[in-house]
Amino acid sequence: MILNRRNTVLGLFLVLIFFNQCKQGAEESIDVSSPDGKILVTFTIRGGVPHYQISRSGRDVIKASKLGFTFKDAAPLNRNLAVVGHRQSSFDEVWVQPWGEVKDIRNHYNQLHVQLAETTAAPRKMNLVFKVYDDGVGFRYELPAQEHLGAVQITDEQTQFKLAGDHKAWWIKAYQWNRYEYLYQSSAVSDIDTVVHTPLTMETRDGLYLSIHEAALTDYPSMTLAPTGRTVLECDLVPWWDGIKVKTETPFVTPWRTIQIAETAGDLITSYLILNLNEPNKLGDVSWVQPGKYVGIWWGMHIGTYTWESGEKHGATTANAKRYIDFAAEHGFPGVLIEGWNTGWDGDWIANSDLFNFTTPYDDFDMPVISAYAASKGVKIIGHHETSKGIANYERQVDDAFRYYRQNGINTIKTGYVGFGQNIVPVGDTSGAGEWHHGQYMVRHYRMIVEKAAENKIMLDVHEPIKPTGIRRTYPNMMTREGARGQEYNAWSDGNPPDHTTILPFTRLLGGPMDFTAGIFDLTFEAANRPGNRVSTTLAKQLALYVVIYSPLQMAADLVENYENQPAFQFIEDVPVDWQDTRVLHAQIGDYLTIARQDRNSADWYMGSITDELGRTLETQLTFLDADRQYVAEIYSDADDADWDTNPLAIDISRALVDRSTTLSIRLAPGGGQAIRIRPATEEETHSVTPY
Ligand code: NOJ
Ligand code: CA
Repeated sequence: MILNRRNTVLGLFLVLIFFNQCKQGAEESIDVSSPDGKILVTFTIRGGVPHYQISRSGRDVIKASKLGFTFKDAAPLNRNLAVVGHRQSSFDEVWVQPWGEVKDIRNHYNQLHVQLAETTAAPRKMNLVFKVYDDGVGFRYELPAQEHLGAVQITDEQTQFKLAGDHKAWWIKAYQWNRYEYLYQSSAVSDIDTVVHTPLTMETRDGLYLSIHEAALTDYPSMTLAPTGRTVLECDLVPWWDGIKVKTETPFVTPWRTIQIAETAGDLITSYLILNLNEPNKLGDVSWVQPGKYVGIWWGMHIGTYTWESGEKHGATTANAKRYIDFAAEHGFPGVLIEGWNTGWDGDWIANSDLFNFTTPYDDFDMPVISAYAASKGVKIIGHHETSKGIANYERQVDDAFRYYRQNGINTIKTGYVGFGQNIVPVGDTSGAGEWHHGQYMVRHYRMIVEKAAENKIMLDVHEPIKPTGIRRTYPNMMTREGARGQEYNAWSDGNPPDHTTILPFTRLLGGPMDFTAGIFDLTFEAANRPGNRVSTTLAKQLALYVVIYSPLQMAADLVENYENQPAFQFIEDVPVDWQDTRVLHAQIGDYLTIARQDRNSADWYMGSITDELGRTLETQLTFLDADRQYVAEIYSDADDADWDTNPLAIDISRALVDRSTTLSIRLAPGGGQAIRIRPATEEETHSVTPY
């Protein structure tokens, strides 16, 4: 069937079902392949133990790997199993993202649904569902309602990933102090000596790119991966405070375990498998959900120019808020984030999470005056809820807190969960033991806030979040999140080295958007007197990050005064946050990356290209442009002598006439980048602007 990918939505839908009953107890092997026939998943029962394996074009990707569970008060569900039935089906549709990195997404897969039952006297039942796409595989367990399994406490999900080789992997440790906020390490899989977070991205010796992650993490702990053999990883669920991994009852389903498989590293970025494995939009009309750019009273706190707490340097004052609102209005930014406006920051706010009050402003912050002022300028305040891990305190106030923001015209909230290690303070008695950010308890909390926000027509930007697993498809108000080491680390830590942003798009960002907060222009912030702290990029690279790091909410993170009289700021004013299409033009994990994106609301394209600490020149032909049309490229490039270390601010801004036959030479300084706006040329410009 020929599909028109531009066709809006849900129309095309083809279901072929053939049902196959099998004899209980037989050794079974059942295959299902991707629509293009390249990826093959085989489900087998060997000696009563369920296994799956994956190959692509005849080569193993995942060797026969075990599936199953152990429980606290019941026998394990991982042996004595037989196939009692299976059926296959196919699905093909194009759905439209209300906002996103691409407008139309094709959801095209073949599915295998396998029903298993124990061969014991009191048999329990478990199903496995495999969805096989051209760009990878998702599978999950279904535990149906049944006589011999009701309430369960899962002590282990034993899903194995037996890799077919000792691939190069990019990973961060799990169970750490700072959640997901670490620099990626790369090594052979066999050298991973710790439990790691997902997405775990790998490059095989024969040139495939793989990423293991999960989709639709809804009421279950996050999956981390434990090395249990030289090239074997096993699902390691983040526990509750008491060590139990999952507390639930049948019927339930697990999140999808996902393996993205691509021939190029760039194809991982344009794989929408994670989104496809999530439920469609549950909110109906989401015209109130609006991607946008914002400035904020924020970076000043991180570099020490302002404070969150009250006092002389208090950042969230009425006067400062008005100044930021003025700037936003003048430069066409719809949002202004204000942190530190509510009481609770004085003293040790990380220790005193119970002191945060989400409806009481500091005396020098006049919320009604500021919200009226913002409204008069057509700007929205982005509210802030820092919980500092005090979940009980937050949940007690959350209804009032949301109402308060609504009353003040606020429709976006940035939340925060600063807390370290296993120290979330939950609701209820745990004898003083804490929760992880990534266990089932917090997955439920984060989801509850997303739902509550949706009821209030509020968009969310979550810091210290649970990792993204595509629920933005189901709840399009779940805009963006942190969940990685962002720009803030450049303000007060040993900083992010130049290669950090050449790894993020291939790892953490495969899960979903990130509020990285690019756009620092004063790269060394010497006036803030932070010797040893700086941003390790060139200025042009800060611009390129708006294209490279996708987020529907994008901050221009610097102090607004640092944008005055800066010609390069024009790029940040122009760059959209909502895209029709995304193309990856160069991709080498940890080295360099070029992405071109087409604006959803105009004929413009934007390109961002970044490199690690090495300078390089990348060539690309602009084949994505319309034929028979000329464009003006507005190019923000590293100057010849730019270098992140010695000369970061040197930028050249130029214009050239281009078309789809133009080959661009993208010169990147060490730690540099290039940002390009490509817009249709006016008739006059086709004569006056010099061809590239
Ligand atoms: C950490 C967040 O990442 C940052 O953006 C925020 O300013 C602080 N917490 C305070 O809430
Ligand atoms: Ca953070």
